[in-house]
Amino acid sequence: MTRTDSRRFVRGHGTVTVTTRKGRKVRVRHIRPTDAPLLIDMFHRLSPETRRFRFFTSIPDLPEDILWREVRRYTEFNERRQAALIAVVREDRQDRAVGVVRLVVEKADPDIAEVAIVLRDDYQREGLGTAMFDLLIQLALVRGIKRLRAVSLAENEGVQRLIQHAGFRVASQTSHGETTQIMYLEEQDGEQHGPGSTAACESLTSG
Ligand SMILES: CC(C)(COP(=O)(O)OP(=O)(O)OC[C@H]1O[C@@H](n2cnc3c(N)ncnc32)[C@H](O)[C@@H]1OP(=O)(O)O)[C@@H](O)C(=O)NCCC(=O)NCCS
Repeated sequence: MTRTDSRRFVRGHGTVTVTTRKGRKVRVRHIRPTDAPLLIDMFHRLSPETRRFRFFTSIPDLPEDILWREVRRYTEFNERRQAALIAVVREDRQDRAVGVVRLVVEKADPDIAEVAIVLRDDYQREGLGTAMFDLLIQLALVRGIKRLRAVSLAENEGVQRLIQHAGFRVASQTSHGETTQIMYLEEQDGEQHGPGSTAACESLTSG
């Protein structure tokens, strides 16, 4: 990506092509309201474990109303409070979503945003999650967000490693089977170094 492309991207335009470790090309761009059917299709294809890791529920088939509500939370939002990127590939002569990552700025504290990510199973462990998360961090930095928080199931080694290896200091705390990680994008004098906060994970049951 050139510098101009990079500037356009962080302002919400353009596409970044990511080449995965297996050499597959994936287009990553900002999400649009018209992407809802792509996300529904992707969520239908997730394995039970990936659903559990992302949504904290083992319901094998997510009820359609809950699925649509979740997808609308991804695609229709206040741009000042949220950013979301979608990863798209061409399969069977149509576009298919294989990943989505987003941040939601906290109402009570605009310095902090909650992050969540999920990839279709057949695109996991190829570096795509790292690439998408790096792009999301750039969006967060441009917006002046100082901390990113991720809540995951305690046994979710994948996302915890992804966050640990993003290049920022991370504070981590596990309680009641959930791990909260705080990434410090910008350190402040006298800042408390703990995950703190009471934010609920982005579970489907949290509405
Ligand atoms: C978590 C997730 C986004 C990671 O994306 P990814 O593209 O698979 O990860 P990457 O290939 O970029 O690898 C990132 C790191 O995580 C590790 N990792 C990825 N999946 C892993 C797994 N299932 N178990 C252990 N480690 C894993 C990689 O080894 C790598 O670690 P390293 O830096 O030490 O080499 C993806 O696996 C996923 O969608 N998981 C299910 C949904 C989920 O857990 N979402 C997070 C809750 S919000």
